[in-house]
Amino acid sequence: MAKLNFGGVEEEVVTREEFPLEKAREVLADDTIAVIGYGVQGPGQSLNMRDNGFNVIVGQRKGGKSWDKAIADGWVPGETLFEIEEALEKGTIICYLLSDAAQIELWPTVKKALTPGKSLYFSHGFGITYKDKTGIVPPADVDVFLVAPKGSGTSLRRMFVEGKGLNSSFAVFQDATGNARTRCIAMGIGVGSGYLFETDFYREVTSDLTGERGTLMGAIQGIFAAQYEVLRANGHSPSEAFNETVEELTQSLMPLVAENGMDWMYANCSTTAQRGALDWWKPFRDATKPVFEKLYNSVKSGEQAEISITRNSKADYREKLEVELAELRDSEMWRAGSTVRGLRPERG
Ligand SMILES: NC(=O)c1ccc[n+]([C@@H]2O[C@H](COP(=O)([O-])OP(=O)(O)OC[C@H]3O[C@@H](n4cnc5c(N)ncnc54)[C@H](OP(=O)(O)O)[C@@H]3O)[C@@H](O)[C@H]2O)c1
Repeated sequence: MAKLNFGGVEEEVVTREEFPLEKAREVLADDTIAVIGYGVQGPGQSLNMRDNGFNVIVGQRKGGKSWDKAIADGWVPGETLFEIEEALEKGTIICYLLSDAAQIELWPTVKKALTPGKSLYFSHGFGITYKDKTGIVPPADVDVFLVAPKGSGTSLRRMFVEGKGLNSSFAVFQDATGNARTRCIAMGIGVGSGYLFETDFYREVTSDLTGERGTLMGAIQGIFAAQYEVLRANGHSPSEAFNETVEELTQSLMPLVAENGMDWMYANCSTTAQRGALDWWKPFRDATKPVFEKLYNSVKSGEQAEISITRNSKADYREKLEVELAELRDSEMWRAGSTVRGLRPERG
């Protein structure tokens, strides 16, 4: 582990320098890594591991578009692509990458395949942390660990192809072999992580549920909508409101913030923008902090997990979700966004 300074706080993290890919390959040389599920994380992680030289197979139910996608990505039925039960049998490391709701449904099948010495791998602490609601309780004689890439499986793959890496957290829940931590880190390097930071299953799930409901999606959509509505109510055109709310942020500012930080952005804008942004960030923090506290408490109490499990387990959940997603898609702001994106000049 490398001891690094994060804003004055020391943290131990794993980088590819102390744990190179060759070492990861050595640690998992005798393993068959079975990636169960080919949704969003499944493709990213399995393709990265395959390209990194690991022995990987995919388990996916037949008949859906995920099975076809797996074939299109080069997985061969009967050789590297199997029905879930068969892949579970062949795998020594079971990467449980079905949707969180499907993980509950398939658990009895997975549990049967977890013979002593196998490893159970997750990319989220959900199933284990909320075991009272999910029923996911692994046998005592298997290793249980997680690697949670901090981003979409699509980005994990895209960044890997570009020679970059998405940062991931890792955690060991159960160490039956005495080697779980090393195997877990080897998986983290194998899936193409940038650097790896240690957590536990509970902290992974509470931070993750807070993040996606907060600044990563829920809060940001809420702030976009609020500003857009205020501008529109005051007579600004959709084009002006969208550009001032979203397009400038995503196209111009965020890439610079990603490269240099918001502190740099503040120091490198006009003094008019600087004055205003310095005056207004604290009122926005103070207005939203109580909402973040409410959100965190709702996550901590298990209420958010309960909502997610009950709502997403209903037979008609996809149709119901679709109605709410359509409301977002059909909102004036995102319809304006679609037009604005269509007008971006192509460099030819
Ligand atoms: N989304 C992300 O980028 C992301 C980021 C970090 C961590 N994670 C974690 O990674 C794990 C996988 O997430 P994901 O977003 O990749 O999942 P997802 O896209 O929702 O997973 C869908 C997969 O589950 C299968 N599936 C759904 N219902 C099923 C059922 N009843 N029986 C059998 N298979 C079923 C789907 O097959 P069909 O196509 O046939 O339905 C598909 O292979 C989760 O624990 C998630 O929290 C995800």
